[in-house]
Amino acid sequence: MSDLIGFFDSGLGGISVLHEARRVMPNENYLFFGDNKNTPYGPRSLKEIRALSEAGIGRLLDRGVKAVVIACNTVTSAYGEIVRAEHPELPIIGMEPALKPAHFARHGGRVIVLATDATLRLEKFKRLMARYGDDAIPVVGRGLVELVESGKANTPEAEEAVRALLSPYTDRQIDAVVLGCTHYPYLRDHIQKLFPEAKLFDGRDGTVQRLKSQLEKYGLRSDDAPGTVEYQTSAGPETVEMMKRLMDWMD
Ligand code: DGL
Repeated sequence: MSDLIGFFDSGLGGISVLHEARRVMPNENYLFFGDNKNTPYGPRSLKEIRALSEAGIGRLLDRGVKAVVIACNTVTSAYGEIVRAEHPELPIIGMEPALKPAHFARHGGRVIVLATDATLRLEKFKRLMARYGDDAIPVVGRGLVELVESGKANTPEAEEAVRALLSPYTDRQIDAVVLGCTHYPYLRDHIQKLFPEAKLFDGRDGTVQRLKSQLEKYGLRSDDAPGTVEYQTSAGPETVEMMKRLMDWMD
């Protein structure tokens, strides 16, 4: 087994989770793999998402990682239970839209859950909705992942795309917006602008706290030397540069 913690996402979204992990555990060594060539996963069939996820997480497993973070809500929904059943020996931490804390933060208004098509249509989210979704409004973030992947998160084009998706709800009392895809934290300013009173929730903090406690439970923490990050992508070298820029931008 190596000392690496493997992170997987369909693309750049997982960098937002990796950044939080580095902040909380700077002495760990991370291996990030983004399947940028095949992103977005959200509009794909369950079968396709599972096949791509198996290949992507397989790359991390081949390197003997000591833990896996599925830094993607879509992959967790489609493949999380399968990979956990296949690798009971390994801490595997997944993600789901932070609907539960958003639900409890309401004060008479509603919760928007913004996520990919696949996340919202699969069984895992239906179970979450049954428990905490009585006042939730699920919205597919169509086109948003593509904007982030093409480096346009901070452009008027992205702001307009967010507005087009969410303006139908600006006349209601929205108490919270759940960023149910790891690509969306890069768009948070555009979202907050539309709902200035709403609290935004994403799963990064909870995921990283869970990673930390799992590493501790398994006796796998590395805490004695400055950690490293290795970036890998199924796309070209310019994507690795983009990953590094995003990490710096979030500092
Ligand atoms: N970042 C991924 C998530 O959290 C999905 C992006 C995609 O559609 O590929 O759901």
